[in-house]
Amino acid sequence: MNLTVRATGCSFVKEIGDMALWADVDQTTVDLLEEIWSTCGVLIFRRQALSEDELIAFASRFGALEAIVRQDWRSEKHPEVIRISNMRSEAGERIGGLGSSELAWHSDQSYMAQPATGALLYAVEMPPTGGQTYWANLRLAYDALPPDMKRQLDGTCAVFSYARRQAGYHEEKPLPDAVRRQTPDVVHPMVNVHPRTGEKSLYLDPSTTSGIVGMSDSEGQQLLDDLLAHATQAAFVYRHTWQIGDVVMWDNGFLLHRRDPFDGAHNRLLKRLTMRLSPERHIRPRTA
Ligand code: SIN
Repeated sequence: MNLTVRATGCSFVKEIGDMALWADVDQTTVDLLEEIWSTCGVLIFRRQALSEDELIAFASRFGALEAIVRQDWRSEKHPEVIRISNMRSEAGERIGGLGSSELAWHSDQSYMAQPATGALLYAVEMPPTGGQTYWANLRLAYDALPPDMKRQLDGTCAVFSYARRQAGYHEEKPLPDAVRRQTPDVVHPMVNVHPRTGEKSLYLDPSTTSGIVGMSDSEGQQLLDDLLAHATQAAFVYRHTWQIGDVVMWDNGFLLHRRDPFDGAHNRLLKRLTMRLSPERHIRPRTA
């Protein structure tokens, strides 16, 4: 396939053109996409029309797919596909998760001991306004820290808690027991090194990080607040206004994301897949 790579005005986001993701994508093209993705962080493909089978076939070229812990958000057909949606079935049941409220900055699966860091969202229905998604680059953020802060963070670990994340969801039921049992708190180093470039990036998740090892709650929270303010300044953030048919892939190893709220009277539906990416090309957060 003769794909094109377009700049987007944001250094870590590339738009890939001239690709039909439903077609059989040859290995040379997958390798090229991997090469671009591994260092830039966010890839966008516009005007796609994909069945769940086609989504799975494409996403699984980049790593083994993971069924995330939320069974209540899964597609009935494929457990690897989850629905991010405010929509309800005819019986009035939610068809997916995360409603229409604002979603705070987070990193998918950071609450797991071995997070799967590849993520893909496919836009099926969109409200006329609102619901934009933002990505913040934690490598650029690390790079811009003062040297003494880099030294302090290099050996530091943080605690990540799914219960804390769940408490921040405004429209979700209490955490199901089965999910609670699968998601005990975990500890990860706050700085990771990219396996290809050797560049360092921060690893934190304001929705999920419940403390910093060796610091009091208030000291830890202050440091997290300061790091979040630093990491999400405009220079390190990309804002995506969705069009139906967009596919966006990103690497949670060095990116945070968040979403604007939207009017829940309008339907919004994205299908999401989670991939376990190659440790040779992508950061793999460790358990401390
Ligand atoms: C997510 O955090 O995976 C969902 C983002 C969105 O709804 O735009």
